[in-house]
Amino acid sequence: MPQQAIRELLRTAPSDQKHAVSGWVRTFRSNRFIALNDGSCLENLQCVVDFDAMDDALLKRVTTSACIEVSGRLVPSVGKGQSVELLVESLILLGDSNPEEYPLQPKKHSLEFLREIAHLRMRTNTFGAVMRVRHHAAFAVHRFFNESGFFYLHTPIITASDAEGAGELFRVTTLPAQNPPLTENGDVDFGQDFFSNATNLTVSGQLEGELGAMALGKVYTFGPTFRAENSNTTRHLAEFWMIEPEMAFYDLSMNMDLAEEFCKSIIAYVLQHAKEDLAFLDQRLTEEESLKPKEQRAEQGLLEKLQFVLENPFVRLTYTEAIAILKASKPNQKGQFKYPVDAWGIDLQSEHERYLVEKHFKAPVILFDYPANIKAFYMRLNEDGKTVRAMDVLFPGIGEIVGGSQREERHDVLVEKMKAVGIDPAHLSWYLDTRKFGTCIHSGFGLGFERMVQFVTGMGNIRDVIPFPRTPGKAEF
Ligand code: 4AD
Ligand code: MG
Repeated sequence: MPQQAIRELLRTAPSDQKHAVSGWVRTFRSNRFIALNDGSCLENLQCVVDFDAMDDALLKRVTTSACIEVSGRLVPSVGKGQSVELLVESLILLGDSNPEEYPLQPKKHSLEFLREIAHLRMRTNTFGAVMRVRHHAAFAVHRFFNESGFFYLHTPIITASDAEGAGELFRVTTLPAQNPPLTENGDVDFGQDFFSNATNLTVSGQLEGELGAMALGKVYTFGPTFRAENSNTTRHLAEFWMIEPEMAFYDLSMNMDLAEEFCKSIIAYVLQHAKEDLAFLDQRLTEEESLKPKEQRAEQGLLEKLQFVLENPFVRLTYTEAIAILKASKPNQKGQFKYPVDAWGIDLQSEHERYLVEKHFKAPVILFDYPANIKAFYMRLNEDGKTVRAMDVLFPGIGEIVGGSQREERHDVLVEKMKAVGIDPAHLSWYLDTRKFGTCIHSGFGLGFERMVQFVTGMGNIRDVIPFPRTPGKAEF
């Protein structure tokens, strides 16, 4: 008999027709009611067994997390919380689960504990919901760009360049860890390595994305990126997924328009396609917030916050304007910032970004025209000679969610900028070629996918929105 998903069954009208379904037992009450979940949706299917008609030994094996197949008719549910239930006519035990050993009990577990058993945590309501929302968000990304005339470009995972110039690279090598071949100077001789060159995992697909934009017009990447930065925060992963659109003939203001439209389209899509999971996560967050002291509680619930971001324009201001606001702000005057804002040119810390977004404007903010020396080499230099056409989108509760810029399209200016930060132009000659052969203004940005999933699910820690997080000291599963 063909199996059906619980998501479908819960929308099916009761009838004499027989249905079959498989899943994992969540609970088995009174030797009669099995709450079955197959992951297709948040809800369980209530399966009612007639214990008199069933083998006792078989029913004993219906334990939490055992895998079973049941079949029978759908009938209107007499109990609360569901419209239909399945009257079990046959029950097959597909996989036993020893309740003494199974670490997930039908009760609330802490997120920290669940991180230790990430191989099983997707069987909980919270992680099932987060993973389904993550799927919808990923689908929304492709839909948005496809409908906006972009081409999906697959940029390499292994590269010989450091696109961000920040030196946070994971080396890729097949040379032996012990006694690798050495050059005359005593350095490791990567000339003898697999690629005849020193290579690393990519930190960004942007540079190759630019090559694509200079041929195909509008492209985007969506792939894993790797950063060996030792940041143990709720916003950083060593392996995260990034979406990087790159567009020929776009200046910075068009770039900001696109970033705003793109962020809103993801939020709108998940609101429409993941209603039940979001309602559950909204409820979860409300409960979590209620445990905090009143003054620390979020002002808006999850759904309210998503709707607010969708309906209101992002505030746009320059870095210079932001510094003036921060300098004059109460927390700065009272010395409450860990990093005081005293001079133009400082790199903004997340406490500053969050002040602007959560306290001052109470809305997402796009900051642009940053000081050249705190931003990457490829950003277009402004006429003032000291700022670049950079932009960061800052979100409530998250901080920086998007980073982007108009690119430096002038060959000679770009070469000078590379030299100033110690990048050998010969090493990126292929990148410079686009500035030699038909250069044009162009722009792009990167959205950290997990930070967006954090925002739409309301999860406080980035480790809880990716199935198997990689962070300093941890690459389990
Ligand atoms: O600001 P970033 O470093 O910019 C770039 O990589 C550019 N090449 C993007 C471009 O213009 N095409 O990273 C972009 C975004 C950040 O705004 C943040 O959302 C996310 O990627 N991000 C991280 N997310 C999780 N863990 C990390 N360690 C992250 N580092 C950056
Ligand atoms: Mg950035």
